[in-house]
Amino acid sequence: MLIFATSDKGGTGRSVTSSNLLYRRALKGGDTAYLDFDFGSPTAPAIFEINDAVWGIKGGGLHSFLLGEVAEPRALDVWYESDRDALRGQPAGAGRLVLYPGDVGGGEFPSDDVIVERCTKLLMRMVEEYEFCLVDLSAGRSYAIDMVLAATADPKLAAVPCRWLVFHRWTRQHIIAAADLVFGDRGILDTGTVRGHDRERLSNAIRFVRTAVVDPNSAELAGLRAAQVAWLRDCNAALQRLAGRHRIGRTATLGSVPLDPVLQWREQLISDDDVALTQIANRATAEAFDGLAERLVDDAAWEGL
Ligand SMILES: Nc1ncnc2c1ncn2[C@@H]1O[C@H](COP(=O)(O)OP(=O)(O)O)[C@@H](O)[C@H]1O
Ligand SMILES: [Mg+2]
Repeated sequence: MLIFATSDKGGTGRSVTSSNLLYRRALKGGDTAYLDFDFGSPTAPAIFEINDAVWGIKGGGLHSFLLGEVAEPRALDVWYESDRDALRGQPAGAGRLVLYPGDVGGGEFPSDDVIVERCTKLLMRMVEEYEFCLVDLSAGRSYAIDMVLAATADPKLAAVPCRWLVFHRWTRQHIIAAADLVFGDRGILDTGTVRGHDRERLSNAIRFVRTAVVDPNSAELAGLRAAQVAWLRDCNAALQRLAGRHRIGRTATLGSVPLDPVLQWREQLISDDDVALTQIANRATAEAFDGLAERLVDDAAWEGL
């Protein structure tokens, strides 16, 4: 399965949520790959705590590969290369967790037919080698989105299941922006149709993910004043209505991740030990990532809307 992770804005939690989702799939036994297609800011290795690659790698990354400078992109096996003790060593029963980083100093680049062809070949290889290949795309209407829409329209990839996740924060601006990225002019559906996708089929393959959401009913808000809680509830209800009007209501949403204090300060994978042993992360956060990983493969969650 190919999973495309996108968002209209930067800083939505796209990379951190995607990494945690993929990590959970790997823990469940799937062989997984994470492709850093955020070409303008290829910092995904930081989340996996591969310290000498936090800004990307020196040569041989996905930029070099797609631009034709190397024949193979370099792969970093998280279970071996991570500097975080808790991630080193493949857990019993877990599948592979492999990161394909970008190049240090690499930037956005427009694609052409040759680059799209390289991208198609890369994705074909990925689906042969891994059960789950997640492609973390640049924010907004990017060259990266256009490239993968062109690549996945290739008949060679027609039989491969593709699922799109659009990440957004739970605010007015983010809700409107996320909806516009999908449904608006020159958005994902428009661009996909131009590239040869069936609009309805593509639309059915897209779900939204809400990140860093404050739950107005959570016990942690007990310390807030009554007026603050009442305001949060009203605000939440208004956002629900807004999301519904913009076609990104509950049925179009794959899941929602609560605001977590660890992730507010640090981009990282949340392990079960972070919840049960050191208790630095909230159980609800790990459960939300796990739920996303489950619903990703649950066909009922992807039936036509
Ligand atoms: N559930 C969450 N709770 C709190 N902070 C979060 C949560 N998810 C992500 N973040 C934080 O938000 C910031 C942006 O996340 P990131 O994944 O880098 O966004 P993007 O890839 O969309 O630019 C990071 O500091 C990250 O740790
Ligand atoms: Mg990111």
